[in-house]
Amino acid sequence: MGRPYQPSLLRLLHGLTALLVLGCWLSGLFVYSRYDGRWGRLPFVPGGSWIDLHGQVGWFLLPVGLAFTAYALTLGKARLRRATNAMALVALVLAVATGKLMQEDWLRDGELHHLVYSLHLVAWLVIGLAVLVHVAGSLQLGGWPLVVSMSNTSLREGDLPGDWPSQIRRYLKRKR
Ligand code: HEM
Repeated sequence: MGRPYQPSLLRLLHGLTALLVLGCWLSGLFVYSRYDGRWGRLPFVPGGSWIDLHGQVGWFLLPVGLAFTAYALTLGKARLRRATNAMALVALVLAVATGKLMQEDWLRDGELHHLVYSLHLVAWLVIGLAVLVHVAGSLQLGGWPLVVSMSNTSLREGDLPGDWPSQIRRYLKRKR
């Protein structure tokens, strides 16, 4: 079997999404530990304005996540038939949507009772589990070569950034 190759647009959007999700997940853990902690706390939270940082990373995740979701639902649709991929995407949408509905002063003011905040906490848990299952699913499907192919930086002819518009046009033409 040849080495798996992933389209460069997918690698870019998937990689940015994964990095931003990781940033949100970790900063969210720090925010929870400092301002909530009802189910336990980290023994140590590094100094920093974690609420602001969490909001800023989340602010970037919205457009990137939207672009990635648009890709996954169109050009990448065939892979969404795999439940572990689809679950990661649903978890992403849940986390971003509930995050958008959060007010940043709630936690500073000790208001932990908002339904949206509870849903956002659940989304934090769900995306953590979904990404674990997603990575395990990818490992099971194609082992390390598949996982590594998602962060490979090599480009094939016909798959340079300048080729993205024609790739999208070809997809749209096939749909018609
Ligand atoms: C952090 C949030 C993540 C989300 C929301 C996510 C979501 C997705 C989605 C929706 C797909 C299908 C793409 C398509 O339709 O073309 C996909 C594919 C893939 N992802 Fe992720 N992913 C995440 C993190 C990761 C991480 C951390 C890894 C590896 C360490 C990884 C490895 C892969 C691989 C190898 C594939 C291709 C699987 C296949 O061919 O079916 N993902 N991901």
